[in-house]
Amino acid sequence: MTFDVEEVLSQLTVAQKAALLSGKDFWHTHPIPDLNVPSIRLSDGPNGIRGTRWFKGTPTATLPCGTALAATWDKPLLRHAGELLGNECIAKGAHCWLGPTINIQRSPLNGRGAEACSEDPYLTGVVARELILGCQSTGVVSTIKHFVCNDQEDGKRGLDAQVSQRALREIYLRPFQIAARDADPGALMTSYNRVNGIPTSENKELLQGVLRDEWKWDPLIMSDWYGLYSCLPALEAGLDLEMPGPTKFRGFEIELNSSLNMLRPSVLDARVRRVLQFIMKASSVPVSPVESQRNLPEDRELNRNLSAAGIVLLQNKIQTLPIPKRISKIALVGSHIHEAMASGMGSTAVEPYYTITPYQALMDKAPNGVEVQCEVGAYAHKFLPLLTDRLMKNAVIRFFNEPSTVASRVLIDKVPIVTSYFQLVDYTHEDLNSSLFYTSFQATFSPDETGEWTFGLAVYGTAILYIDDELLIDNSEDQTLGSTFFGCGTDEKFGKIQLVAGKDYELRVEFGSTSTMQILSPEAVNFGGGGARIGACRELPLDVLIERALGIASQADYTIICTGLSGKWEGGGNDCNTLSLPPHVDDMMFRVAAACPNTVVVNISGGPVAMQWASKIPAIIQACYGGGEGANGLMDVLFSDVNPSGKLPFSWLMDIKDTPAYLNFGSNDGRLFYGEDVYVGYRFYDRMERETMWSFGHGLSYTCFKLSSLRNIGEEAVDSRVPSAAKVLVRNTGSVAGAEVVQLYISHPPTRRFCAKKELYGFDKVFLGAGEEKEVSIDIDPYAMSVWDEAHGQWRREKGEYTIIACTSSDSRCKVRVEGSVGIESTTWW
Ligand code: BGC
Repeated sequence: MTFDVEEVLSQLTVAQKAALLSGKDFWHTHPIPDLNVPSIRLSDGPNGIRGTRWFKGTPTATLPCGTALAATWDKPLLRHAGELLGNECIAKGAHCWLGPTINIQRSPLNGRGAEACSEDPYLTGVVARELILGCQSTGVVSTIKHFVCNDQEDGKRGLDAQVSQRALREIYLRPFQIAARDADPGALMTSYNRVNGIPTSENKELLQGVLRDEWKWDPLIMSDWYGLYSCLPALEAGLDLEMPGPTKFRGFEIELNSSLNMLRPSVLDARVRRVLQFIMKASSVPVSPVESQRNLPEDRELNRNLSAAGIVLLQNKIQTLPIPKRISKIALVGSHIHEAMASGMGSTAVEPYYTITPYQALMDKAPNGVEVQCEVGAYAHKFLPLLTDRLMKNAVIRFFNEPSTVASRVLIDKVPIVTSYFQLVDYTHEDLNSSLFYTSFQATFSPDETGEWTFGLAVYGTAILYIDDELLIDNSEDQTLGSTFFGCGTDEKFGKIQLVAGKDYELRVEFGSTSTMQILSPEAVNFGGGGARIGACRELPLDVLIERALGIASQADYTIICTGLSGKWEGGGNDCNTLSLPPHVDDMMFRVAAACPNTVVVNISGGPVAMQWASKIPAIIQACYGGGEGANGLMDVLFSDVNPSGKLPFSWLMDIKDTPAYLNFGSNDGRLFYGEDVYVGYRFYDRMERETMWSFGHGLSYTCFKLSSLRNIGEEAVDSRVPSAAKVLVRNTGSVAGAEVVQLYISHPPTRRFCAKKELYGFDKVFLGAGEEKEVSIDIDPYAMSVWDEAHGQWRREKGEYTIIACTSSDSRCKVRVEGSVGIESTTWW
């Protein structure tokens, strides 16, 4: 379909204009068929393309989470990741990708920290740029989100982020600015919160003033889902599209305000024109007419490379890693050995084509003849583990308009599923009353151990769980709000029962949709429909678990402990409240490490966690949620098929009290004060001379590198001798091939107060054979050395002598470094 934007605009009625300014449904814009204006499909999310269904979604490539992608520091690889996301959109019939997420990891407690990229705005901006360029090279429009200061989940809709203009410009707007400048994403999503008193969806200073007037960037601006709170102020501020539909603040409101002459026609037309331009551009993408799958070998290979490239080797004493080929026994211990931990939860959750658990990946990778033994050691689940085909079969959900108490109820739909989790946000059926319906989940449960089993039931709606028709858990009364289902669901309720291994039991859950729930969270984003999660575990006493783990670790040549967090601890709707790993994991670490000298800990989480045991463990690996291929990528690194080259995109602290946002994280009656100002992450630790456990940019390799001969280039090209790039020689001084990330930091003159000691303004990853040397040229961001001058309301670069540091970690003790300088002759503002 093609149409002329101005021609269509001139023919639209006010009602049609109003219709175009909000979604038709959860994932589509409004079509105007008479005028050839099609409907455009938008699709989540940052690390995989879900399509239009949360429930029984079309399987898709599941890429590593944001922090894992950022940890690659690999621009070409990220560009390919973006292409894959674009191609997955095309396969899912989606013209527009709702990603990437480029908020800042202001605190490691941020529930959606894993979805964002980094604590550093430059790294975040560059990661975004590459993903967007890749995605948009397929024609698919990218939507950067959430604009801006959506850096925590606690109370996020009612939150006022009180942030200085300087921190806003230098830290929080910067990734958006880099992405806009270098990649021109076609769309932007506003956030749920306010910034300095004004909701971002109606913040004219930001939307019109900064984005459109100052940056000369004119994306389609859409609201976050149910993140629009007004009609006129948002229209006047520049918010084009309300999502999702049907509308809550537009439609009739627009017609009314137009008829009362309260809404100026020029404002209405500006918004409609932008939506039409977006539809015009997006509709040229040749998307699949049906939601389809790709699952191509080359996509899987890319995904595996991405996973491996994002693995960070934090510590490797006495070269414990890589695991030698000639060993006979490996003990695999930990809560995560049978879970893939592909991605986070909430709007990042997708239905992966496939996933692989650490156990399966180890069995595939371990050299022939090596015996592998497994033990959990200590659980790390927040909610009891979901049931999958390991313990459950023939799972099916039946849909009804009447509750189970109505014997004659009529079956409307019957859908087989493979997990004991369902979220019915976007499930529809023509005969189903979507505002009040009931389901019956049924499955055969076959325990693998005899003894007492604990079942857990959390629900967004109401639910009752039966085993062989005996009521075990009633979560339809006395409900308590918890953190499930974006903060709309209940806490988990438990029931215990004695079961016999190998015997089949009938598991049944009678569920009522959202409107049957007694308590609704006033604050959470209410997506409707409802859902339930059923977990089960044969919970053994901790001592027994640890003893079993010690038994295998003490006999093994190598022990690999896989543990950490999951999308239940960190994820949309709730922040973490501690840096600690789940209870008892630390105890287990100390004891197992003492039993096996070659212990390798693999921590799986979106950000840093406290590791009191770190000094007792020879080798530690950080694996942020690695996507469908996560465990394969991990094994590639452990067994040296890939030399690790990932670098931390965040600083690693032991104690949450040492983090800059500590006193100002969480909703303080709706107030969120960005008290640390521009000193986010390493900018704070550097300035405070506070030691980190591992610094931003840290990551080891199985080889070593040396840097030399730093020189600035292109100084004449820009004003006042600002170099546009720096060149540096990098040598692989070790005996195996590997890759190093050369990081370029710039320091203000030492006498200057109120500045970070150094800031990242360039980086490049270089691949070198053993003994090989290469000169790399690293672009320097044009905003290097500048600060936002609040008095002038302008950028300022002050004259003085600046230090340029090329190094391999932001740690001031990092020895692989070379320094140079650059002199700025006069102060300039722009
Ligand atoms: C999230 C967005 C997401 C949208 C649609 C919102 O709650 O904040 O990131 O794109 O839902 O799922």
